[in-house]
Amino acid sequence: MNGKKILLIVGGGIAAYKACELVRLIRKAGGSVRCVLTVGGAHFVTPMTLAALSESQVFTNLFDLKDEAEMGHIQLSREADLVVVAPATADLMAKMAAGMADDLATTLLLATDKKVLAAPAMNVRMWLHEATQRNVARLRDDGVTVMTPDEGEMACGEYGPGRLPEPEAILDAIERMLGAPDPLADQPDFAPDAPLAGRHILVTAGPTHEPIDPVRVLANRSSGKQGFAIAAALGALGARVTLVAGPVSLPTPGGVTRIDVETAREMAEAVDRALPADAAVMVAAVADWRVEPAASKIKKGPEGPPRLSLVENPDILAELAVSSRRPRLLIGFAAETDNVVGNAQAKRERKGADWIVANDVSGDVMGGTNNRVHLITAQGIENWDPAPKADIARKLAERIAAALEG
Ligand code: CTP
Repeated sequence: MNGKKILLIVGGGIAAYKACELVRLIRKAGGSVRCVLTVGGAHFVTPMTLAALSESQVFTNLFDLKDEAEMGHIQLSREADLVVVAPATADLMAKMAAGMADDLATTLLLATDKKVLAAPAMNVRMWLHEATQRNVARLRDDGVTVMTPDEGEMACGEYGPGRLPEPEAILDAIERMLGAPDPLADQPDFAPDAPLAGRHILVTAGPTHEPIDPVRVLANRSSGKQGFAIAAALGALGARVTLVAGPVSLPTPGGVTRIDVETAREMAEAVDRALPADAAVMVAAVADWRVEPAASKIKKGPEGPPRLSLVENPDILAELAVSSRRPRLLIGFAAETDNVVGNAQAKRERKGADWIVANDVSGDVMGGTNNRVHLITAQGIENWDPAPKADIARKLAERIAAALEG
């Protein structure tokens, strides 16, 4: 990390102890760390522990006159190369999204002009709550990189997404952000001649998970790789890209605004909120059905296996096709194993899409790096050579740019 300076804000959650390991890893990688501990954070780790690990003074109080005189909040963020919030609690992210500044941590987050990385950690219900998802979307819009929390058993005994990403993963994200060009450089304002400059394009990607009970889901094998590659390729051509992603563990392409969702209905809402768009590329493998989830874990019993009663999910693509806010170019994907082109042609008509990318998912396509597609338009069928997903993404992005130009 070549002596890069990290300002680490430690929020108040049980995962705060992992911040100690993060400090150690950053220093081992050649960086230096200054820590700011929120009042909540200080309930979980002591300033002394962080001071010893960082070999630097730990700041806790906005109104400590001595610190304010010698090292004010502006100065603290000015000397940093990157601001990292770990753990980013629901409360801290809500304050950041609202622009509040009622303690040292939130004040310097509001005062900073540096890139900010937030690693969330909270109870699964708090993470999935609409308010938190709204705050995460707002923060991403504001340019904050919000990591997707890990999924697993939580300190509170529940299971699901909400665990602090492992310190190694946070270090990876830090290194990527320090090495990456400024995301603003990808924005249309900075590349006025780019083919998709000034366009907003919506991409859906990944699977959806439909909960059966607090521990089980109905899922599918979509990896999200093709959709993420398309979002990256559109961004590289200068588009402002909103990527609505189902549960996948893929890094967010630079300059792309990502909204994480779990279920089909959450995806439909996120798509609706992201409109208007010049084009939409619906790559997600949306679950066709959901069940009414049980409030607590379904137990095995003498009455035998439970019967799942399936309810149809909204068809996001078909509903968008008839909406008053329909993007000018609407593209669907058709994952097929048999009669690939025939089924995809019928799907284009049935769903009202302009183009369908017929995706032959027989074999090892799902989760793999290569893909086999045919582009179905009103003009006919184009058979594209099998190619890496990144190449298919670039070719599709170029076709989208040409179509919007026309
Ligand atoms: N799609 C959607 N909402 C759904 C289901 C699918 O927006 N509830 C979109 C997908 O993102 C994709 C296209 O519709 O762009 C086709 O998805 P696919 O799963 O292939 O089609 P289905 O409608 O599910 O048809 P089937 O499973 O019967 O093949």
